[in-house]
Amino acid sequence: MKKIELLKPETLEEKLAENLQHHRMPDYLLYTGETGSSGWLELHQSPGFGISRQLTELLVQNISLIAAYVPAGMNVVSIGVGDGKKEKILLTELCRLSSFTYYPVDISSPLVDLATEQVKDLPLEVVGLVGFFEDLSVLRIFWELPVMFCLLGNTFCNYEPDEVLRNIGTVLNEDDLFLFDCSLYYERPETRRKIESTYRCPENVNFNIGPLLRCGMRPNDCEFRLDLKPAPTLEGPLYRTSKVIRILKDSIVQCAGRSVELKAGEIIEMGFTYKYTIDQLNAFLRKHGFRILRLFKSRDQGNVLFLAQKEPARGN
Ligand SMILES: C[S@@+](CC[C@H](N)C(=O)[O-])C[C@H]1O[C@@H](n2cnc3c(N)ncnc32)[C@H](O)[C@@H]1O
Repeated sequence: MKKIELLKPETLEEKLAENLQHHRMPDYLLYTGETGSSGWLELHQSPGFGISRQLTELLVQNISLIAAYVPAGMNVVSIGVGDGKKEKILLTELCRLSSFTYYPVDISSPLVDLATEQVKDLPLEVVGLVGFFEDLSVLRIFWELPVMFCLLGNTFCNYEPDEVLRNIGTVLNEDDLFLFDCSLYYERPETRRKIESTYRCPENVNFNIGPLLRCGMRPNDCEFRLDLKPAPTLEGPLYRTSKVIRILKDSIVQCAGRSVELKAGEIIEMGFTYKYTIDQLNAFLRKHGFRILRLFKSRDQGNVLFLAQKEPARGN
């Protein structure tokens, strides 16, 4: 077992301070610091936030069908691996057939450790990587092709679809596999209310204001707001969550040895989660040169797992 750290905790603290000074808090900052990874694990396991459980169930139900597409010896990379429990399900199945290397990747070093610990009983080589998903061109140096490239836990939806698919397309070959899951938008009268109430649950609110509280903000001096808003794209109208933290009382927070002043009425802009329909996901995959080998829908049509591959280059 090996761990390569391309990122230091101090760098993330610096980034938090810099972003707060500019009234921004991108989502990756939620997972950092002493409390970020534990906050995520709490949210992930909480009954009020069912997305993680539903996506795990979908993977479990279809695991043997997915494994049937994976050739012997194919390595597994999982980006934003979190606690690595979904990967454990996948790897347990794949280990029956062959030996290979597993690369758990995350911005959080404690989560890479946890994901590694998760598979200690499996006959695998493990190379943990602590780094940014956005640095795929660097990360790719450390893994050996061919790979099954996993992006699980609705992580795909936290990125701009064109950008994320373009980046993934640059590090995969035609014989690699791409596995990702999404919690979907589906046209029903109650959909909007259901999505908003899931993301407004107290566990998710605490997770989102976690970095500010850790830096000394008092819980009642700020307010988390979330709405589902239309987001037009070339592939048709999408929905995505829009999140902000509104400062209610003048406050000073401490981060990376700096004091950051936040004034009442100021707004801290946060990340987003896209809510796609299956047709929209199909359209984005096709646009970026991926073909769908198989898609697995949950019975209630609320979640999907895609297994895709790059189209062979024209002229071959
Ligand atoms: C939504 S969670 C999903 C975790 C896990 N895949 C699952 O299914 O439970 C996103 C994960 O990505 C990590 N992460 C967030 N932003 C990242 C980034 N920019 N680069 C690498 N990892 C990131 C977080 O630490 C977290 O573990």
